[in-house]
Amino acid sequence: RTARFTLDPAFRVAPVSRRTFGSFVEHLGRCVYTGIFEPGHPAADADGLRTDVLELIRELGVSTVRYPGGNFVSGYRWEDGIGPVQDRPSRLDLAWHSTEPNTFGLDEFIRWTGKAGLEPMMAVNLGTRGVQEALDLLEYCNIPGGTRLSDQRVANGAKQPHGVRMWCLGNEMDGQWQIGHKNADEYGRLAAETGRAMRMIDANLELVACGSSGSSMPTFGQWEATVLDHAYDVVDYVSCHAYYEEKDGDLGGFLASAVNMENFIADVVSTADHVRAKKRAKKHINISFDEWNVWYMSRLQGELPKDEWPVAPRLLEDHYHLADAVVVGSLLITLLRNSDRVTSASLAQLVNVIAPIMTEPGGRAWRQTTFHPFAQTSQYAVGDVLRVEPVSPTYQTAEYGDVDLLQAVATHDEQTGATTVFAVNRSQDAPLALEVDTRAFGPVRLAEATTLAGDDAYARNTADDPDRVTPQPNTSAAVDGGTLRVSLPPVSWNVIRLV
Ligand code: AHR
Repeated sequence: RTARFTLDPAFRVAPVSRRTFGSFVEHLGRCVYTGIFEPGHPAADADGLRTDVLELIRELGVSTVRYPGGNFVSGYRWEDGIGPVQDRPSRLDLAWHSTEPNTFGLDEFIRWTGKAGLEPMMAVNLGTRGVQEALDLLEYCNIPGGTRLSDQRVANGAKQPHGVRMWCLGNEMDGQWQIGHKNADEYGRLAAETGRAMRMIDANLELVACGSSGSSMPTFGQWEATVLDHAYDVVDYVSCHAYYEEKDGDLGGFLASAVNMENFIADVVSTADHVRAKKRAKKHINISFDEWNVWYMSRLQGELPKDEWPVAPRLLEDHYHLADAVVVGSLLITLLRNSDRVTSASLAQLVNVIAPIMTEPGGRAWRQTTFHPFAQTSQYAVGDVLRVEPVSPTYQTAEYGDVDLLQAVATHDEQTGATTVFAVNRSQDAPLALEVDTRAFGPVRLAEATTLAGDDAYARNTADDPDRVTPQPNTSAAVDGGTLRVSLPPVSWNVIRLV
């Protein structure tokens, strides 16, 4: 079986946006406490930040980080997390049936982003709160000084403004589970009013309106249209959220999850552009895909604490296998393929909670299987995204009909001349031969080819065996006479670099 496509530097989609490689830190389970922050851990620095985790985050190549939620933000009072730690209250976190100790808050988060080299992306609470609290938070963050809240920030030790540019106007407000859930008109008006007022403080903000929590939401499509009817002029992005899991042992369907993401993006783009046409607007609204991942959400009800309110319980600690990593790679390919309209994205989440990085309290930090496709794409997707149109054998899925075995995208860096192909073989039983016509680039040579694969699609990394699933050299790759030839093993994620 052979799949083919042509590479050409003229087939340019858009520049690679660094913000595609964002992630997400929510006050949820052990993402913050014993994840990124653990005073007393042997690797913790003077601020209580785990340096072993910081190192892995740098290696992962994360750009922006969304904070502090998620569902958590819709009941959060940001003021609880600033000032002297001993004066901060403990609160009930209704979203995750936990106790929030508030020993880590806004200023600690910003200090952590500085150390990790990340851009902060803040979410405001539009569940239990509204315009005024969002303005207060923005004043605290972005005004240099001379006002009550900005002076308070300075007094709390942050002389320089936090300079946060990206702001999410609430979180998943279409979801019945969301504290302060609203209908599309209610939320659209609140988002527009909040955003408009925030721009009066700082005209240079980039604002994200909540789109649907998933394309299967009953209000999907109409939600985006109504919200943007209210907020089109005020916002820059509409969000998409999508999580995937293998259901009923249907691995083939799971490996095709990107078909859903691709359709989701196309539908949101056309809805946003429909509103644009109605309004005769000049600007386009882009997509912030600010929650995406594999998540075995079907297990959630069994995980949530019932009668007790623990601090930092083990929640959503999915242990990912090889097939999960292949799906994560395939979702990254989809985000890149749509780089003309998806200009920001956040892998949800970063540490312990449905995360590429795991930690043990007081112990080790290690890479899940899903760490690898993200790290490789962040490192090697440089320059422009190139459109590729594979001609591929297909396979049958119950959910999506006939699906290509091959999924691929490429990037080309004009500065260095480097070209990288990212490819997934969705076949469960056979390698796929890939032939790529590279003649449009002139003479090229192979720099490196790696594959994440193995005999067991369900093999996992663990704290004791953290490198069981890692990219290995693919010795089948060769370039000859203007053709790259490579064999892609079954259920595999592949990166092939040409110079
Ligand atoms: O990422 C986990 C949760 O998924 C987030 O809190 C919420 O926004 C989404 O439903």
